[in-house]
Amino acid sequence: MSKTDVSKKALLSVNDLCMYFDSAGRRIKAAEHVSFEINEGEVFGLVGESGSGKSSIGKCIIGLNRATSGSISFHGTELTGIKSRREYTEKMRDIQMIFQDPMSSLNPKKQVGQIIRDALKIQHIGKDAKERDKMAADAFRRVGIPVEYADRYPRSFSGGQRQRIGIARALAGKPKLVIADECIAALDASVQAQIVNMINEIKKETGTAFLFISHDLSMVRFLSDRIGVLHLGYLLETGTAEEIFREPMHPYTRKLLGAIPRCQCRILLRAANHSVRLSATTLR
Ligand SMILES: Nc1ncnc2c1ncn2[C@@H]1O[C@H](COP(=O)(O)OP(=O)(O)OP(=O)(O)O)[C@@H](O)[C@H]1O
Ligand SMILES: [Mg+2]
Repeated sequence: MSKTDVSKKALLSVNDLCMYFDSAGRRIKAAEHVSFEINEGEVFGLVGESGSGKSSIGKCIIGLNRATSGSISFHGTELTGIKSRREYTEKMRDIQMIFQDPMSSLNPKKQVGQIIRDALKIQHIGKDAKERDKMAADAFRRVGIPVEYADRYPRSFSGGQRQRIGIARALAGKPKLVIADECIAALDASVQAQIVNMINEIKKETGTAFLFISHDLSMVRFLSDRIGVLHLGYLLETGTAEEIFREPMHPYTRKLLGAIPRCQCRILLRAANHSVRLSATTLR
């Protein structure tokens, strides 16, 4: 199956989304009339410089930010219109987020197995403690963390392992969409490559869709079926990863592409098209 040959059923539709921050008499426009769709099983890469509004959009989808206007529909339900907390919790089971800093997003006082079991319990996933225990163990296995490490605390893991645990927490309840917000930015190149390869494998094995947020277009290219380029809150263009790399329409996209060394572009394109695993050398 080619990278663009994904199911065309929209899982998430963001329509004309505006998200403004009003503070001290000043309005910051984090997202301006942003529209895009993510299909089932697809990786949509959202790329842009720092402050372009990537996290604000991700947080609107997950409900951490309130949209100023526009709509977000997930699996046929209008998220911005949900009134009851129960309905919202139910819908949100299928959308999970992986954060940039795995240390601050994992409670240092809890064993990592407990962190995952608690996340499942809060979302009413799994019928009892035994089932949640099994789900946590499956998630650990999937991200390559030995199940015996479940009673350790976050501090006893490396940065890359902590991010794997963050990914395990997001995947444990088998969500339909995972929002990964700069989830590799804090890691060094070889660990970045391992995590990106792992996300690629998870996508193929489970059919989970991802919103992969990054300022790094080369990373986004490797993982994404389609890409959206964000600048100062505006989504300048969207297209298949191939289209964005080969025929960028917007001068800003060309500028972003110009910042990636040509040889690296070629290697990434070849790697992505032939489902080759990424190595640290590719990223340098
Ligand atoms: N809580 C907040 N209050 C006020 N302004 C905010 C808040 N969060 C973000 N902003 C502003 O909204 C704009 C978009 O920020 P956002 O964090 O979404 O960008 P980003 O693309 O995720 O950046 P980065 O790559 O640095 O994470 C920026 O101008 C930022 O300063
Ligand atoms: Mg951000």
